[in-house]
Amino acid sequence: MKPIATAIVGCTGLVGQQFARLLDDHPFFALSCLTASSRSTGKTFAAAMPGIDGSFFSAATRRHVLRETTAAAIRASGARVVFSALPAAVSGPLEAELRARGLCVFSNASSHRLDPAVPLLIPEVNAGHLELSRVQLRQHAGFIVTNPNCVVSGLAIALKPLMAFGLDSVTVTTFQAVSGGGRRGVAAWDILGNVVPFIASEEEKVARETRKLLGRLAGDHVEECRLEVYPACSRVAVKDGHLQSVSLEFSQAVSGKEIAEALTGFTAEPQQLKLPTAPQSPIILHDAADRPQPLLDVNAGGPGRAAGMAVSVGRLRRQGRRFGFFLLVHNTVRGAAGGSVLNAELAVRSGLIPGGEA
Ligand SMILES: NC(=O)c1ccc[n+]([C@@H]2O[C@H](COP(=O)([O-])OP(=O)(O)OC[C@H]3O[C@@H](n4cnc5c(N)ncnc54)[C@H](OP(=O)(O)O)[C@@H]3O)[C@@H](O)[C@H]2O)c1
Repeated sequence: MKPIATAIVGCTGLVGQQFARLLDDHPFFALSCLTASSRSTGKTFAAAMPGIDGSFFSAATRRHVLRETTAAAIRASGARVVFSALPAAVSGPLEAELRARGLCVFSNASSHRLDPAVPLLIPEVNAGHLELSRVQLRQHAGFIVTNPNCVVSGLAIALKPLMAFGLDSVTVTTFQAVSGGGRRGVAAWDILGNVVPFIASEEEKVARETRKLLGRLAGDHVEECRLEVYPACSRVAVKDGHLQSVSLEFSQAVSGKEIAEALTGFTAEPQQLKLPTAPQSPIILHDAADRPQPLLDVNAGGPGRAAGMAVSVGRLRRQGRRFGFFLLVHNTVRGAAGGSVLNAELAVRSGLIPGGEA
């Protein structure tokens, strides 16, 4: 298959850099266009990010000159697929214009996640929702596919194999890394030696997006599932990896052994299709009492391009009528760029991207 010409918008950010790394040598996609803000336009990728370790990127990517972030400039580059790592305030209208011009957009921003005709996708959780892209293609020349908030990206994967036991409610307390706020997001002065027990709009996103992801496709929209979700989100002085303390309530009797087996045995479409960025096992269950930890487990899923794509779970225990565990997800990989690349790989394999593999 001839590689598909591809753009990254917002390539200099923390998510954009992960896209550049993952797409450097991708079997389906070839970089034809990189963009960032007007601060960076006209500079090479390396020059636009002084102080960043460039050894993760190929020489060709480091030398790539950044274009303007406009639909016209991106279209003119020949790109047919766009990976979006822009702040939500700018991504919404741009992504809609790219779709109108016939491009296939895979977005990390929150702007379109809850649009009824836009799939909010994790291929291990709701691969069937990708059908909504065909609903968009009836009205637009292209389509938008989104991936969820970084907390939800890990949480929904762990919940999916447990839905069969009659899951009623989820209470989740998060310990979220500084990188979740972007390159200029959280001042060192505010976070070093500190925990901030609030992240704007985060708890609302965790509840709504989890229900859409685990919902049922009903023709041209998704019916949200009835699961009760009670999040409490905090920012901690960790570089990468969102740790989550999860507590579950089931409507039927279930044992710890059944939960453990469901988590470890879980595989789905990406594993069956052997998608290039899919981890062999989406969930890794730890026995050790002190795992998962961001420093030790954030890159679970490797070797190679699947590093950071598996969700780590540990400290599975009964708590009265409830079950609890800790969960760790790499926020800029599985929770952002890696999740988006996996979505695009599924779209290629589903024949949704013209010229891609059918
Ligand atoms: N960080 C995470 O863990 C995470 C996880 C899931 C989803 N997300 C979402 O992914 C998106 C990117 O997040 P991030 O953490 O990578 O943010 P970031 O580090 O702040 O990067 C933002 C990127 O957007 C560019 N940009 C900013 N304003 C722009 C404008 N007006 N026009 C064009 N480009 C502009 C920046 O370019 P310059 O370098 O030139 O300023 C940079 O490339 C956000 O929507 C975020 O909510 C992030």
